[in-house]
Amino acid sequence: MELMDLMFEMAALLGLISLSRLIFGAVNFVWVMFLRKPKDLVKCYGTWALVTGATDGIGRAMAFQLASKGLSLILLARNPSKLESTSQELAEKFGNKVAVKCIVADFDKLKKDEIVKAVQEGIQGLDVGILINNAGVIYDFPKFIHEADPQMVESLLNVNIGGLTWTTMAVLRSMLKRKRGAIVNVGSGTAHVMPGCALLAAYCASKAYIEYFSKSVTLEFKAHGIDIQCQIPLLVETKTIGAIKAGWLSPSPETWSKASIRWIGYEAVCIPYWVHYMETIVFRTMPILIPNGYTLRGRLLLRKQRMEEKHAMELDVRDKKDP
Ligand SMILES: NC(=O)c1ccc[n+]([C@@H]2O[C@H](COP(=O)([O-])OP(=O)(O)OC[C@H]3O[C@@H](n4cnc5c(N)ncnc54)[C@H](OP(=O)(O)O)[C@@H]3O)[C@@H](O)[C@H]2O)c1
Repeated sequence: MELMDLMFEMAALLGLISLSRLIFGAVNFVWVMFLRKPKDLVKCYGTWALVTGATDGIGRAMAFQLASKGLSLILLARNPSKLESTSQELAEKFGNKVAVKCIVADFDKLKKDEIVKAVQEGIQGLDVGILINNAGVIYDFPKFIHEADPQMVESLLNVNIGGLTWTTMAVLRSMLKRKRGAIVNVGSGTAHVMPGCALLAAYCASKAYIEYFSKSVTLEFKAHGIDIQCQIPLLVETKTIGAIKAGWLSPSPETWSKASIRWIGYEAVCIPYWVHYMETIVFRTMPILIPNGYTLRGRLLLRKQRMEEKHAMELDVRDKKDP
């Protein structure tokens, strides 16, 4: 009888612990997603923000969000005319409330010293408090690693890993001098949520690097007033995801960037958009075979479709050359 009583008490205790964890998780979710006050970015970090990959998708939307908070901007990308038009649109929208500068730099073409030099010259004399390391590239479509063009894989590593690392190193010195700053590194749900990532292996591994790099440098610089964070998007409606449509699961870059801005300066790794956060919980509660099988099937289908399209185009070109 005594043993039965003890077992009931243990079960009740375990139930209570699980319930408290659940309640705490739910309250914390509402607090961090919707109620917690975002940091005053100008006051906490400084008047300028550098955004890499600022001419398209998430980076472009982040630039507009930061400008709406009163930050002046340094836009970095490789295409001068896209930089020019983004900077003009910012000037039209915000007038002389924010200043805009551009750095033309191709993370794939430049050597590491040249990237550091371009960034340091671009930020010289400016109170750069925020760096958004956003520039990133992905495969043209899912592929087995042995099928991928080695040149494409090298470019991906140069941009996703090299560009982010060299830019961080270039900006950290001036942040350290001022003893304040925030760095946001854009990771990916593919590397954060899934234990492995078939058919996008080099991309996902580059994003896993970004997450681990962020967690590590956070420990190095927290005591120096610099907040470093890896933000994790799942699908966002940009040209990166191409034909994949995920409806309400994939927000516009504008919606994503509004959520992203609220998190700057807080947790070292975060999933800023609430729908993505819920998706992550669902993925994690499933036996891993289900999400693994589901994503593999989707990517195999997309690969087949794109290979057929590519083959048809090649035949078309050949027919035109040799009718
Ligand atoms: N969209 C998603 O669903 C999703 C999901 C998870 C993570 N992410 C990550 O979010 C980030 C932004 O993605 P996105 O979808 O917004 O991409 P996007 O629309 O393709 O924009 C990419 C930006 O990066 C710049 N860029 C590309 N190659 C570059 C290079 N060699 N040197 C310098 N800049 C370069 C582009 O500049 P140019 O105009 O000069 O080409 C552009 O401004 C990436 O790191 C991506 O991995 C996206």
